[in-house]
Parts: sequence; structure tokens; C-alpha cells
Amino acid sequence: LGGVSAPKPLAGKKVVVTSGPTHEPIDPVRYIANRSSGKQGHAIAQALSNAGADVTLVSGPVALPDPAGVKVVRIETARDMLAAVQNALPADIAICAAAVADWRTADEAGQKLKKDGSGVIPDLKLSENPDILATISQAGASRPGLVIGFAAETEKVTEHARAKRARKGCDWILANDVAPDTGTFGGDQNEICLISGDDAKSDEHWSRQSKTGIAEALCARIIKHFS
Ligand code: CTP
Ligand code: CA
Repeated sequence: LGGVSAPKPLAGKKVVVTSGPTHEPIDPVRYIANRSSGKQGHAIAQALSNAGADVTLVSGPVALPDPAGVKVVRIETARDMLAAVQNALPADIAICAAAVADWRTADEAGQKLKKDGSGVIPDLKLSENPDILATISQAGASRPGLVIGFAAETEKVTEHARAKRARKGCDWILANDVAPDTGTFGGDQNEICLISGDDAKSDEHWSRQSKTGIAEALCARIIKHFS
């Protein structure tokens, strides 16, 4: 049997997806990071590839297998993630699902910081990391036609997410509630509100389901957008 090949509605579309955390070194053995399993970003990369897109996945350190058929670029820091994303442009679509560390240490120690017994606690000076989503949303001629971000919020979820969409200049924001009692972090389920406009009229609510289900819903929404 030759088998029936799946339809490829995103054939010819180039996509860059960010996923996972970034690690910002304090010294050779310690780092600053956000919580992120990478499950949602990796599932999105897989769904888009299954739909025929040419996908580059820029991933921080995660304990997940590479999605099949996807080009994976592994990075550690936010600055390296930005460089890898810019290197993957031009693209038709950019999706920032990574939990980028907002700050890095201003000066990384070359050697392991030691507890020397004096009780002196290191005073970490922080610098702000580049905002990858905002940078590519405002990239002028090299801006992908459809730029999508996430907003992980613990309260006033859609309100904060709508403000975030405007501030960053992206087209869509997928708002998710990451309050501790939701189990979203590290879990296999997610619940999303897709925000694509300045008021709630255009909001689309996707019920709590697997991260794979959310990835497929996003993929279907992207296919609809381009059809
Ligand atoms: N993001 C990014 N680069 C950063 C910070 C965030 O690309 N340095 C992206 C994330 O991948 C996500 C979106 O921006 O798609 C929102 O991230 P979030 O942490 O919710 O927003 P921040 O603007 O960092 O605001 P805050 O953490 O204060 O809520
Ligand atoms: Ca942040």
C-alpha cells in the first residue's frame, strides 16, 4: 500500500518557533532561569511541521526529544536565542513560546563563586535581556508577516495579555493562566485565550486540553489565517 499522504496546507511557509527556558550563567555551575518544560513550544513546532511548514525550532535546555522533521537550534542564553532567531529570518511566521529569563547577571564569574565561611552573600547585579518577541515584532522589513507570542500570567490574565500584545507589537498573544493551582507548568495540559485585537470581541477561548491539542488548534487557526 502506498498510503494516503496527509494534507500539507502550510507547505512553502517558513516558521521559527522558540521554546523552553533560557539559562543565564551566574558562574560556571549556577544559572538564572524561568520555569519551562518546553512541551508547548515543541508541540507547536511538531504540529506546524506535520502541516507541511519548514520549521526552525530555537530551543533552550529541555528534556524532550527533537520534534520529527524540524530543524532544531540549541541555545542557552537569551542573547544566543535572539541571534539564532534572527539567523532563521526571513520567515513567514514567528512563534515565541520560550520562557526567556528577563534578566542575566551583569558580570558572569569566570570561576565558581565560593562560600568562604565569612557569611558574605554574593550581591548579584542584573542586566535586562533582549526581548526577542518585541525585537522581531518591530523588525521592519525582516518582520515575519504573522508574529505570535505567549503571555504567562498568574492574575488578570486577558487584561495583562492584551496590554502585552500592544506593548510588544505582535499580532496574536496566546494568554495562559500559570497560577500554581492550574498545574500548567511542567504539566501536559493548557488553557488558552487567543487575543488578536484591542478589545475582547475578537478573543477566542480554547478549553483546557493537552498541549498537543492546543498546538493543533493554533496550527488550524494559522491555516485559516492564510486561507
Ligand atoms: N519574550 C521574549 N523575550 C524576552 C521575554 C519574553 O521573546 N526577553 C516573549 C515570550 O516568549 C512570550 C512573550 O514574550 O512569547 C511574553 O513573555 P512574558 O514573560 O509573559 O512577558 P514579559 O514581557 O517578559 O513580561 P513579564 O515577565 O514582566 O510579565
Ligand atoms: Ca518575562
